[in-house]
Amino acid sequence: MKIGIAGTGRMGAAIAVRLAGLGHEVAVWNRTAAKARPLGFPVCSSPSELAERSEALITMLADGKAVKEVYAQLLAGQVRGKLFIDMSTVRPEVSREISSRVRGKSAFFVECPVGGSIGPAKEGRLFGFAGGEAADVERARPLLEQMCRRIEHVGPAGAGASMKLAVNLPLLVYYQALGEALSLLSDTGLAPEKMMDIIGDTSGAPAMLKNRGPQIAAVLAGREPPAVSVDVDTLRKDLREMLDEARALGVTLPVAAAALACYDEASRAGLGAKDCTVLPRFTLSKRN
Ligand SMILES: NC(=O)c1ccc[n+]([C@@H]2O[C@H](COP(=O)([O-])OP(=O)(O)OC[C@H]3O[C@@H](n4cnc5c(N)ncnc54)[C@H](OP(=O)(O)O)[C@@H]3O)[C@@H](O)[C@H]2O)c1
Repeated sequence: MKIGIAGTGRMGAAIAVRLAGLGHEVAVWNRTAAKARPLGFPVCSSPSELAERSEALITMLADGKAVKEVYAQLLAGQVRGKLFIDMSTVRPEVSREISSRVRGKSAFFVECPVGGSIGPAKEGRLFGFAGGEAADVERARPLLEQMCRRIEHVGPAGAGASMKLAVNLPLLVYYQALGEALSLLSDTGLAPEKMMDIIGDTSGAPAMLKNRGPQIAAVLAGREPPAVSVDVDTLRKDLREMLDEARALGVTLPVAAAALACYDEASRAGLGAKDCTVLPRFTLSKRN
């Protein structure tokens, strides 16, 4: 299939590599073309050129603003009958708006934000939270199945975005909670590997710790953080989207709000572009 990928950041690039590896004809567009060239795929000069040459378009962009800007250009030409899949983490209202713009051009739209990071993206083991018309989701399913270990159609456009924000909330709070838990162990003299091994084997540990626990332990032991899988500023963006969405829904998220204040502090301290595994160490470093 001729697949166009708009946004070759960490996740978009991993997805492009995955789909090309399965034999698809992949072309890309990225705001900063120079970052896309080393991937080795044809780089289009505009989103509309990408849309013109592709049967299916996948967008994997930083935030709602980027998604709206890029779709304005993707939809500039004739796109009748093409399939658009947005996998970015955005607010539901963004997905609903894009859905209606795409459908207004007689094309098909599915939102499918994902759980899982670069490793699962490269291996086709993401968890996709699909939103859209049932027929559109079925049309997208064969392609989604090549990227995801599990796909759940959770409702109309917007529902997938809501599910993704909900899934991320406890995880993002956990990074802060873990740093606080570790600060209670400051005087025990336990090695970071041992602390993380014990915490990771208890009922309060999220699945994330299976992969990330050893990396967090290494950072705590003073080693350099790993190559960025997801950076602190992207997670701040997710927390802000959760809080904006909560306000729109008339609900409150006091724990998420407190977590965002802690993430903001880490970003002000210069950690915004670092991998999120630095967060527990930052919390620990604030000991009086
Ligand atoms: N990393 C993860 O583990 C992970 C997991 C699940 C979901 N997500 C979500 O996936 C999305 C991408 O994340 P990522 O980690 O791949 O981020 P990333 O590496 O920072 O990539 C962001 C992409 O968005 C593009 N972009 C930013 N602002 C733009 C604008 N105004 N117009 C056009 N393009 C713009 C960037 O282009 P440039 O190269 O020009 O900056 C880049 O291609 C985010 O919504 C994130 O929340 C990430």
